[in-house]
Amino acid sequence: MRILLLGGTAEAGAIATALAAAGLDAVYSYAGRTASPKAQPLPTRIGGFGGADGLAAYLRTERITHVVDATHPFAAGISRNAAAAAAASGVDLIAVERPAWTPVAGDRWIEVPSIEAAVAALPEARASVFLAIGRQSLGAFAVKPQHSYLLRLVDPMEILPLPDAIAVVDRGPFTESGDRALMERHGVALVVAKNAGGVAAAAKLSAARALGLPVVMIGRPAVPPRKVAPDVASLMEALRHGADLGV
Ligand SMILES: NC(=O)c1ccc[n+]([C@@H]2O[C@H](COP(=O)([O-])OP(=O)(O)OC[C@H]3O[C@@H](n4cnc5c(N)ncnc54)[C@H](OP(=O)(O)O)[C@@H]3O)[C@@H](O)[C@H]2O)c1
Repeated sequence: MRILLLGGTAEAGAIATALAAAGLDAVYSYAGRTASPKAQPLPTRIGGFGGADGLAAYLRTERITHVVDATHPFAAGISRNAAAAAAASGVDLIAVERPAWTPVAGDRWIEVPSIEAAVAALPEARASVFLAIGRQSLGAFAVKPQHSYLLRLVDPMEILPLPDAIAVVDRGPFTESGDRALMERHGVALVVAKNAGGVAAAAKLSAARALGLPVVMIGRPAVPPRKVAPDVASLMEALRHGADLGV
């Protein structure tokens, strides 16, 4: 057994720890998006594979027997490539997928299917908007330049893609009290979030609830059907005993 762990998330770090503790032969793969990715207790490679074909070639060359897709739910490109490459190479694929967040009492969510729909859901009148969506899709909000945007980024950006924006450089996990103080300090009136699920980034939702703020919640992109483990323990069980996770 030789495992390729597609990472870039807090869960992937926990999986790397479990794989290393079990003494399994595994490689951790980062896309290379952040300047100083967290060190992992596994051999690590950084950078794209060159599409599904490049990934299939990597699986063959590295004699990978299992791909574990622990990428972010919004990293749909690599998940599609992983499904195609694993199928083409006859390699087992298991995704570790955190359940999506669902609204609870007190939440004021506006659920939208895409970044573009989130932009459209913003009001026309000037407001202070917390864009808690990482860095990749910020440019889409430039069509609503009347807002002041609060950004939270893992690495600083030299030039912010929005005319009236402040960037806070910070890496999760975050706390409700910290996120509440951040939103109050910047007079935030509305939060835009991706429905990532999990605990590391949920603080902004409870902070918004406590402050009575609306949240524009962007739904997850579609990924191909695949075996899914809901948590690290189920993944380890499936790897050890080939447990049937369905598709
Ligand atoms: N999207 C988010 O909101 C988000 C949030 C937190 C963390 N992340 C992490 O950031 C990374 C990039 O996310 P994304 O949304 O840009 O991905 P994406 O759009 O699905 O992937 C774009 C390309 O990046 C490369 N790539 C992505 N993940 C990789 C990995 N773990 N190892 C090697 N190459 C990878 C692949 O390049 P090739 O085609 O050349 O192989 C892929 O085609 C992922 O590892 C993800 O877990 C994403």
